[in-house]
Amino acid sequence: MSLTVQDLRAWKSEGRRFAMLTAWDYPVARFLDQAGVPVILVGDTLAENVLGFSTTLPVTMDAMVHHCQAVARGATNALIVGDLPFLSYQASVEEGVRNAGRYLKEGGAQAVKFEGPLPEFASALTRVGIPVMGHLGLTPQSVHQMGGYRVQGKTEESALRLIDHARELEEAGVFALVLEGVPRELAKEVTQKLSVPTIGIGAGPDCDGQVLVTTDLIGLSERKLAKFAKAYANVGEDIRRAAEEFRREVEGGLFPDDEHSYH
Ligand code: KIV
Repeated sequence: MSLTVQDLRAWKSEGRRFAMLTAWDYPVARFLDQAGVPVILVGDTLAENVLGFSTTLPVTMDAMVHHCQAVARGATNALIVGDLPFLSYQASVEEGVRNAGRYLKEGGAQAVKFEGPLPEFASALTRVGIPVMGHLGLTPQSVHQMGGYRVQGKTEESALRLIDHARELEEAGVFALVLEGVPRELAKEVTQKLSVPTIGIGAGPDCDGQVLVTTDLIGLSERKLAKFAKAYANVGEDIRRAAEEFRREVEGGLFPDDEHSYH
């Protein structure tokens, strides 16, 4: 049995911090699982980091479920959370519940995540037994409404609004809350006020958990890293070097040599 949402709640009361990372395929999910990462998010950043779109908006529910299935085949210990893509839940609660259910029925996930202050949707999910993670602050599906990827909750009024939204989501039953792109002081306050764990990305060090997008973590993106992100490896450069060396050896007749040939 993989980690459960109840374990995460218990970790909050024990003051135990934890990591979450995104995965969209089998091999990466396996390595994250082997590394002991307890929560894997099949994020809608699939759109940008794997499918080459410039925002998360175009990715479909079908594509998300397809990638979630691969992740679920690779990760056997981690809690797998399927991210609900743009317009898979905003138009109606009923449609959202059906789409969320697909992650559990077809995708192999144990929980789902959605963006924004929609407590009635969170309640509808928990009512039918679908564990749900909230996501407040900089919510990339609203990029056009926000006028770009901007830190949220910087004024007193917007900070108080975010605290209210966090409380409403908690009351509606979310088991954890992602806080993205908010001042660290605000993230700390929300973390202290909630009894469920907060998971920060660009929200400072005081959240209960931290999440990074794995392509940022491993250096597999050509984008300039955001201030909050950190590259722990340079896999993109490794791929380029390996491919260049292979191309040169093939062109020069050096590969395959006798050691890599059958007799
Ligand atoms: O889709 C994603 O990668 C996310 C993280 C940024 C939390 O939602």
